Amino acid sequence: MSFTEELAKMFVGENEIPEKFALAEELHQREYLCNGEMKSWEGKVHEVFSPICIRTEKGLQRKLIGTYPVCTEKEAFEALDAAVAAYDNGRGEWPTMGVADRIHCVEKFIGKMREQKEIVVKLIMWEIGKSYTDSVKEFDRTVEYIYATIDALKDLDRDSSRFTIEQGIVAQIRRSPLGVVLCMGPFNYPLNETFTTLIPAIIMGNTLLFKPPKHGTLLHYPLLKAFKECFPKGVVNTIYGRGNVIIPGLMQSGKINVLTLIGSSKVANELKKLHPKVNRLRAILGLDAKNAAIITEKADIKLSVQETVLGSLSFNGQRCTALKIVFVHRSIADAFVQQLSEEVNKLSYGMPWEPGVSLTPLPEPNKPAYLKACIEDAELHGARIMNQNGGAHSESFVYPAVLYPVNNKMKLYREEQFGPLIPVIPFDELEEPIEYLIESTHGQQVSIFSNDQTELASLIDPLVNQVSRVNINCQCQRGPDVFPFTGRKDSAEGTLSVVDALRSFSIRSLVAAKLTDGNKQLINDIVTAADSNFLSTQFIF
Ligand code: G3H
Repeated sequence: MSFTEELAKMFVGENEIPEKFALAEELHQREYLCNGEMKSWEGKVHEVFSPICIRTEKGLQRKLIGTYPVCTEKEAFEALDAAVAAYDNGRGEWPTMGVADRIHCVEKFIGKMREQKEIVVKLIMWEIGKSYTDSVKEFDRTVEYIYATIDALKDLDRDSSRFTIEQGIVAQIRRSPLGVVLCMGPFNYPLNETFTTLIPAIIMGNTLLFKPPKHGTLLHYPLLKAFKECFPKGVVNTIYGRGNVIIPGLMQSGKINVLTLIGSSKVANELKKLHPKVNRLRAILGLDAKNAAIITEKADIKLSVQETVLGSLSFNGQRCTALKIVFVHRSIADAFVQQLSEEVNKLSYGMPWEPGVSLTPLPEPNKPAYLKACIEDAELHGARIMNQNGGAHSESFVYPAVLYPVNNKMKLYREEQFGPLIPVIPFDELEEPIEYLIESTHGQQVSIFSNDQTELASLIDPLVNQVSRVNINCQCQRGPDVFPFTGRKDSAEGTLSVVDALRSFSIRSLVAAKLTDGNKQLINDIVTAADSNFLSTQFIF
């Protein structure tokens, strides 16, 4: 039996799906949240096919798991109107609400979100093929992120609940919302990465238009009721439909104050240019990345191999932080490539519910063909597949390939493969990978592997000015979520972290007055009567 036939055996028949992981029924979403109402939809729908194929009489077929609305510009504009009305030029109930009350709404939301954990986790698994264990982790990490956000906002608010006196002027400085936020998340972390922008945006008093990712849409459906029940009407509005149909008009309206998107720089740039007043638009973006590993002759090969496997193949390489190109010193390249190939081939592949599974089917229908084209192009320009069966595929599943030696003529040298391919480049001088990073259009992170202190130091200083995080002897990653997550060049705009996100989705406003007896009295009276939510010394415990 060929390896491809072997691979095909990973897919099972409908009645072989373990009951615990099966979806009880297809999920046909016919409503969406707009202006505090679940509006019904009778128009066109999009069929959601899982990357998980099912053995049928007609052969392997991606399983249909549900459908969701494909709304039009009309519904998108209704959602925009709702968000604009709820913001009401900063005078709406939500943007003027005290921080403690906004926090209370978010806490209520977490409670209701947690009630939906089982179905949301299953939908993450079925919609994007993420392993069950990692889908649970994604849910839990998101809940922790929201709790951490609440704590961070309390700290921020406590610091702001006092007056500052400078040069005879008394002021109270707080962070205020920016307006209407258009939020779009990615398919690889459809819940987590979406919520790491959506939650800070809401909690700071903005109102929201939220478009779920193309793959990873249905999993948000069970949460819409919680949004509806926990926030005033119009604060959270969902938009469904083809991005290229519904988004341009929203941007052209000039009514979007913040664009937050985790996706491609090409899309982000096109959207930004559509806004009639670019200076009024703030963008918080997580974009393309091609993080490199630099493995020097003084590196611990075994450790470098372990981290390269994790960094390049966790969730099949579909992480913006994944290691997407590996530079290894020529003196250890053969040993490194051999050990890397062996370790890659030890990873288990299969259905996302299988215990300990690492490699799973890919959600993007065109991805297997794209990866095949990358491999062919690399082979044409002199690389070889170094691991046994590398690049073999069956339907939505692609077995990882280690490609060596990669050079600058290949697609894999520059393109973000976002999949299970590991391009390896031998180098003689450290200047070569440094030059690569200087010339790169990306600037998110780098991993450097060496046990030599002088060598590490000589890499750290030039590299911190090329990328936003230098990882020593470990893979690239976003977490811990309190650390700043950003990038240079085409990799990001703005900074996300539990604390930074609160700053990104707000702007400082202050109330100031000359320190006269009359003003002192007025300010004291306002504070004592609790007439203002902004001018207030109330302390949140
Ligand atoms: O896709 C990009 C994610 O932010 C990566 O997060 O490094 O924790 O997997 P991670």
